[in-house]
Amino acid sequence: MRYLGNKESIVNEIQSLLIEKGLTSSDLSFFDAFCGSGSVADSLKGKYSIIINDILKWSVEYTKGRLCAPVCSFDQLGFDPFEYLNSNSCSREGFFFKTYAPTKTKRMYFTPENAARIDYFRWQIEEWRELLTDEEYSYLLACLIESVSSVSNTAGVYGAYLKKWDPRALKAIVFERVGSSNDKCKSLKTYNERIEDIIDTVDCDILYLDPPYTQNQYGTQYHLLETLVLNDEPPVSDITGSRSTSPMRSDWSKEYKANILFDKLIAKTRAKYVLLSYSNDGFMSKEFIEASMKRYGKPESFVCKKISYKKYQNWKSQNNKQHFEYLFFVEKRESNLVQFESPLNYIGSKAKIVPEIKVNIPHDNYTFCDVFGGGFNVGINIESDRIIYNDLNFFVTDLIKSFRDYDTYEYLLYVRRVIKRFGLEKANAEAYQRARAYYNSLPIDKRDPRLLFSIILYGYQQQIRFNGSHEFNNPVGMRWFNDKVLEKLISFSRTIKERQIEFYSDDYRTIIKKMSGNLFVYLDPPYKLTTGSYNDGKRGFAGWNETLENELFLFLDGLTKQNTKFMLSYVITHRGKTNENLLLWIRKNGYRTIQLGDVIGISGSRRQEVLIVNYE
Ligand SMILES: C[S@@+](CC[C@H](N)C(=O)[O-])C[C@H]1O[C@@H](n2cnc3c(N)ncnc32)[C@H](O)[C@@H]1O
Repeated sequence: MRYLGNKESIVNEIQSLLIEKGLTSSDLSFFDAFCGSGSVADSLKGKYSIIINDILKWSVEYTKGRLCAPVCSFDQLGFDPFEYLNSNSCSREGFFFKTYAPTKTKRMYFTPENAARIDYFRWQIEEWRELLTDEEYSYLLACLIESVSSVSNTAGVYGAYLKKWDPRALKAIVFERVGSSNDKCKSLKTYNERIEDIIDTVDCDILYLDPPYTQNQYGTQYHLLETLVLNDEPPVSDITGSRSTSPMRSDWSKEYKANILFDKLIAKTRAKYVLLSYSNDGFMSKEFIEASMKRYGKPESFVCKKISYKKYQNWKSQNNKQHFEYLFFVEKRESNLVQFESPLNYIGSKAKIVPEIKVNIPHDNYTFCDVFGGGFNVGINIESDRIIYNDLNFFVTDLIKSFRDYDTYEYLLYVRRVIKRFGLEKANAEAYQRARAYYNSLPIDKRDPRLLFSIILYGYQQQIRFNGSHEFNNPVGMRWFNDKVLEKLISFSRTIKERQIEFYSDDYRTIIKKMSGNLFVYLDPPYKLTTGSYNDGKRGFAGWNETLENELFLFLDGLTKQNTKFMLSYVITHRGKTNENLLLWIRKNGYRTIQLGDVIGISGSRRQEVLIVNYE
């Protein structure tokens, strides 16, 4: 049968990529998570253990039937069902006859004769049920689907029927065999679920994803086959005769939802290897997919193969736009090596040194206190049962908290609305200033952090800068809401919702004093030797100077006395100057310094960072 988006024509590409990657062992299992018509699983069933899934029941039955064809001998039935069904002319005036032929309604999916034969075939398969193995039952259903497809009066899908009889539809239906490769299926496990609901429970080695990529809902296009397999005679809609499509509705056919689900699948799958088929005109961009796969996977293993337009001929290639498929691959990395990044481009961000920070934190069940939290690049990466986020700048705390508090999809729609409403775009100063003026005109307690985030995206280096009266005053920039930021936002928002985080906006000392239990205090204060727009003291929040630095040192000595472990991120030398006061303090107290070498800041300037700890 012709199936929308079926991958029949690229199974060879998939196989050669798997061979290139050395994935040839027959001990491996292959999970075709959006199996559709089963062409990929069928081509690999002799090589791997196969697992299939699709949201549509008929698709799972059809694929199972195809895969199992070589083992269907109908021993218990005792005769050849094909011969039997094709040699009689029985018919029944059942649900298909009444619903999908011009009998009781005007619908012209089938001639009345063929519809009555379909009803008979479906009834007969059910009558034989007890004499059939599960594989034989699915195989007969798959063959029925194949046979029905050959005489349907449609343009290939069942979203509508043709108003005139196609010559195909006028031929008498034959009960035909579904196409299947001759290999025996090593082993088969089936699921009929939304993949996003089961991804973390399915054991597999290779995950293959071939999600829908347009607004086209498969449930709408194939409602009739679902009804054929379920055999449940449901209430149907007037014109197309469709069963209710809502249980079959897929979120993969929605912009942003597809991105959010993709992030979840890659993060949660138990598979070590992930393959994805996707189209260049799908909802998710190549940039987004690459960023996401490299976050959870080993960057050096990443592959993106463009499959040429000619090789990939299907219903879509009929339109004028160049259409081609991508085949992506990545090998996943250990989950403790996955690093999340803040969607805020925060000055002094520790994103680049998170791995060093993590290896230098002792393993114990600490309450992790990120008390100068900023963009939260550190705390988000700590797998502790309790995490404290604090930043004196309440606009920043509200921003970070907003990623936890708002549904990510709603958040993205909000950002898109703001961009549209103000006409925000790269380097458009006028639109930017209008949005910024609107934000600043609102009383502080009415300022939506999502509005601030949307404006930040179009500001200079996407920085967060306020003036003394708490007005956001960063000028317009050359950046925009690109797909790398989208990927960071989605993965960060999912993680922040999963962790146990408490949010505060106060002086770090007040917060630490409030906490009880086994604390690990991480501090990333402004540095005396470098000045960011958040620590010059002119921004409506206290700045950073020698007095504050000395107070910090004293406070940390207090923590040491109480046996509380701390880690301080700081800078000893910068542009030829050395912070002697700091060196003295380290020596006097016998603290340990971990050198991290040169770190390049978000504006491109280098600084020499160290970690100072009060433990071995
Ligand atoms: C592009 S087709 C797959 C084609 C298949 N590889 C083939 O060669 O025939 C996408 C499939 O995803 C299924 N689907 C849509 N949303 C889903 C979800 N959330 N979970 C599982 N399957 C879903 C659709 O029913 C459809 O069969």
